[in-house]
Amino acid sequence: MSTVYTNIAELVTNDPTVGDGSPLGLLTDAALVVDDGVVSWVGARGGAPAADDSVDLQGAAVIPGFVDSHAHLVFAGDRAHEFAARMAGVPYDGGGITTTVAATRAATDAQLSANLARLSAELRRAGVTTFETKSGYGLRTPDEVRSLRIAREFTTETTFLGAHVVPAEYRVNRDGYVRSVAGEMLHECRPHARWIDVFCERGAFDVDEARTILEAGAAVGLTPRLHAAQLAPGEGIRLGVELGAASVDHCTFATDADIEALASASAVTVATLLPGAEFSTRAAYPDGRRFLDAGATVALATDCNPGSSYTTSMAFCMAIAVRDMGFTPAEALWSATAGGAAALRRRDVGGLAVGQRAHFAVLDAPSHLHLAYRPGVPLIADVIAG
Ligand code: NIG
Ligand code: FE
Repeated sequence: MSTVYTNIAELVTNDPTVGDGSPLGLLTDAALVVDDGVVSWVGARGGAPAADDSVDLQGAAVIPGFVDSHAHLVFAGDRAHEFAARMAGVPYDGGGITTTVAATRAATDAQLSANLARLSAELRRAGVTTFETKSGYGLRTPDEVRSLRIAREFTTETTFLGAHVVPAEYRVNRDGYVRSVAGEMLHECRPHARWIDVFCERGAFDVDEARTILEAGAAVGLTPRLHAAQLAPGEGIRLGVELGAASVDHCTFATDADIEALASASAVTVATLLPGAEFSTRAAYPDGRRFLDAGATVALATDCNPGSSYTTSMAFCMAIAVRDMGFTPAEALWSATAGGAAALRRRDVGGLAVGQRAHFAVLDAPSHLHLAYRPGVPLIADVIAG
C-alpha cells in the first residue's frame, strides 16, 4: 500500500542531501511518498510518482515526528502543590521524588498503566512519535520491574533508573542500596530495559556510585545514559563521555571542560538539554550556543515527570530553546527530532529521508518556524506513524 502526500508547503526531511542542503533538508512545494510505513520518495510536488492513494495536505508544513529521548512516565499522583511552592520561592532539590515513590508503590499495575496510556496519548497529540521512559519511582526490585514491564507495553526505549535517589529505608545503608541496584535489581530489570541511567548529583548518587552502577549495567548489555550537572557542576558529564554513554542529560551547569569533552565525543554521546526542567524549577537555562558552537550533538527532550517538568510538549521546549537558550528555530527542530534519535541511537526515526519510517506531524502552519513563533499554540494538526 503506497500513499502520496502532496501539496506540502514545506517538508523537513533532516536529510542534508536533499532540498536546500541545510541540516533540515528543507523542500518547498513538496510531496512525500510512503510505502508500507516507510518513506520511499521525497521531492518537488510535480515530480511525485503515482501511488495507491493520494492525500492533499493543502499547504501545510510537514516535520518528522518528535523524538522525546528523556521522560519519566511511570508514576502515580502529581506534585502540583510542590510546583506552587517553588513558584513562591522554595528551591528544587529533587527531594519531592520520595513523594512520587510513595504514590507509585501504592498504585496498582492498572493505575500505572492507565497513567502511562494517558501521557503516551498526550505525547502523540503533541507530535511525538518515539519516546523513551525511565523507571525510578519504584526504588525496590518488584516496583522497578513492574515499572519497566508496563513501560515496555508502550515503547521499546525503556531505561532502568533504580539509581534515582536512595530510598528512605536505605538511608543508613546507601552502599547496600548501590550494591542492590548494581546486583539483584539490575538482574531482574535487565530483561525489560534497553538503557541504564543514574541521577548523578549532590543528594542523589556521586560519581563513583554512578560509575559502579553504569558499568554493571553495561556489563549485562544495557547502554548507559545519565542525569548530570542539573543542580550543580560535577564530574558526571565527563564520566558519561568516558563510559561512551548514549547521552548526558540536563547539563545545566556544564563547564567549558565538560563541553569540550562532549564536543570531542559528538559521534557517541549526545548532550540532551531539558528546558522544561529549568522552566518548572525556575532555574537558569543552559546556554545552548556553547554546546552547538563547540560541535556537540545536542538533543532537546521534555523530561516529562510529575516533579521538575510536567510537560509533554516538545514545541514548548523548542520555543524556550529558541527564546532563551540561543538556538535558531532550525537548530531547535533538528535537536527535537534528529538529535533525539541520535540520543536513542536510532537511525530509522528522527527524519524523513528515503528508507526512514514515515513518522511525521502535519502542522497547522505553512512553516516549521511557527513552532517557536507561535508559542503555546497547538499547531500539530495530524500525526502519522504507521
Ligand atoms: O530529570 N533529576 C532527576 N529526576 C527528574 C526529576 C524527578 C522528580 O523531581 O520527580 C529530572 O528532573
Ligand atoms: Fe530526568
